[in-house]
Amino acid sequence: MGGADPRRKGRVWLSVAEAHRRRGIGSSLFETAVDYLRSEGAWRVQSYVPGDPAGSRFLSSRGYRVTGRNRVSALDLRGAALPDVTTDGFRLVTLGETRDRADDLYAICVEGEIDMPSDEPETEMDFESWRRDEFEYPDVSDECSAVVLEEELPVSLAIVTADRERGVGYNSMTATRRSHRRRGLALLAKVAAARRAREIGLERLVTENDEDNAGMLAINDRLGYAPLYIEEYFTRELAQGEGPTGQRW
Ligand SMILES: CC(C)(COP(=O)(O)OP(=O)(O)OC[C@H]1O[C@@H](n2cnc3c(N)ncnc32)[C@H](O)[C@@H]1OP(=O)(O)O)[C@@H](O)C(=O)NCCC(=O)NCCS
Repeated sequence: MGGADPRRKGRVWLSVAEAHRRRGIGSSLFETAVDYLRSEGAWRVQSYVPGDPAGSRFLSSRGYRVTGRNRVSALDLRGAALPDVTTDGFRLVTLGETRDRADDLYAICVEGEIDMPSDEPETEMDFESWRRDEFEYPDVSDECSAVVLEEELPVSLAIVTADRERGVGYNSMTATRRSHRRRGLALLAKVAAARRAREIGLERLVTENDEDNAGMLAINDRLGYAPLYIEEYFTRELAQGEGPTGQRW
């Protein structure tokens, strides 16, 4: 859209409890949210649907189109036969042991975000955003998350958040420095993270990957992740002079 501020992108996600659907609650909430985003100058709105055909119909009928698809999958740690991985010249430690190496861990994640297949790769992740959203995110597990060192330099990592009460962990980020890819390091980190997750009593690890992320999907297949559902990303650009529900003013 000519002249639009590329940063003013909005995101909406809503859910209506099963028993209260088909009464216009979702439509009304959605319109209110999009209206707000528009008033803040958003020129584009994105939403996603976690494997729910009703949600896909809801967005499609409002002019949103699918711009990305993620495979959500889970590894049952109780029955998983995790492969043995050895890589000479590298050492595994926990995230907790590398908390003083934030700059090096950030460098891994920056390259990972840029190279991660996505309809919109994250190319401008500053240190503060990474520190808040990834490194110091409260659920990140210092003991499950694994870091691979070459001598003392972190070169690959697998970050896991842990919900001990529910016995579920989530792979929030896996990445390897560009200079060190295809040496089995991400596989090494993910297997270590899965083993530690099992040791602390988690029963399941969940992850989501862009359908085009061949590398990560191949690694997850080798660990035994089984597909759960497809998460669709929907996007719509708001035309100038357009009201919240898509009608022209
Ligand atoms: C995906 C990523 C983490 C893989 O890291 P890596 O250390 O190179 O992976 P490994 O060397 O452990 O790969 C193990 C196996 O996975 C498969 N694999 C890895 N990368 C692949 C690719 N780009 N294409 C196809 N298969 C791939 C291969 O089977 C490989 O074994 P092989 O090299 O013996 O054939 C890395 O490419 C990366 O950082 N990408 C950007 C970040 C990202 O997409 N993260 C995942 C989302 S959280």
